[in-house]
Amino acid sequence: MPSNLANFLRIGHRGSSAECPENTVVSFRRALEQGAQMIECDLQLTADEHVVVIHDWTVDRTTDGSGTVGELALEQLRELDAGSWKDARFAGEGIPTLDETLDSVLPSGRLNLELKCRGSDEDARRLAFSSVAAVAQRDAFDRVIFSSFDVACLEALRDVSPDARLAVLWVFAPFDEAFALAEGLGAEALHPRAEAVGAALIDEAREQGLAVNVWTVNEPAAILDQVRAGVDGVISDHPGRLLEARARLLGVEG
Ligand code: G3P
Ligand code: MG
Repeated sequence: MPSNLANFLRIGHRGSSAECPENTVVSFRRALEQGAQMIECDLQLTADEHVVVIHDWTVDRTTDGSGTVGELALEQLRELDAGSWKDARFAGEGIPTLDETLDSVLPSGRLNLELKCRGSDEDARRLAFSSVAAVAQRDAFDRVIFSSFDVACLEALRDVSPDARLAVLWVFAPFDEAFALAEGLGAEALHPRAEAVGAALIDEAREQGLAVNVWTVNEPAAILDQVRAGVDGVISDHPGRLLEARARLLGVEG
């Protein structure tokens, strides 16, 4: 068994989302404190075309407001409390913009920016353009990987910039289409749902030169199983458990 297994990439899902309100700056900071090297977060466009960080299509579950993200202006989103739903101690935490997220994470960590778009190809293009522009402005392409389930978003990302590092998000086998898409895009990683990963998938990714970063793995035993199976990175709601897995691998198998 290779001794470098402990070097798997530790990625906090929506920050440290088991402990903190997901996709908020406090969640990103906490994930970094807990040993995450990279933060995964979800990007959407507001009605007035700002990029904000939120998972659901509506604000209803994770804020004190209601409505569809894409139909609300940034100023309306800024009025919402995105922390109290998780715990009263997070009251006042807001929905971050992409700019705020880059500025809070990049000094010490890397980012996996997941683009979420259910509109037209033109909407996908606008989200891709604005997201890439924010990263380019900070000269940070080496510290960011863009991912999406949405083919239009991935294609738009590649059209906008040859420098954007891309990952193809995929849920179910078969993965033939995902591999073909990754090759066509010049992607560097595949982000499969953990339950769909097996030895054949990892072997094929290796052959194609793709990294495999799995989501979302929370149980300590499952994290170790994934790393021992050979994945390159693990996306977890519990970044502290990723660091514990590293320690375990160093102690037991290092
Ligand atoms: O990027 C991995 C994972 O976040 C994809 O699914 O729904 O949690 O954004 P979701
Ligand atoms: Mg996501």
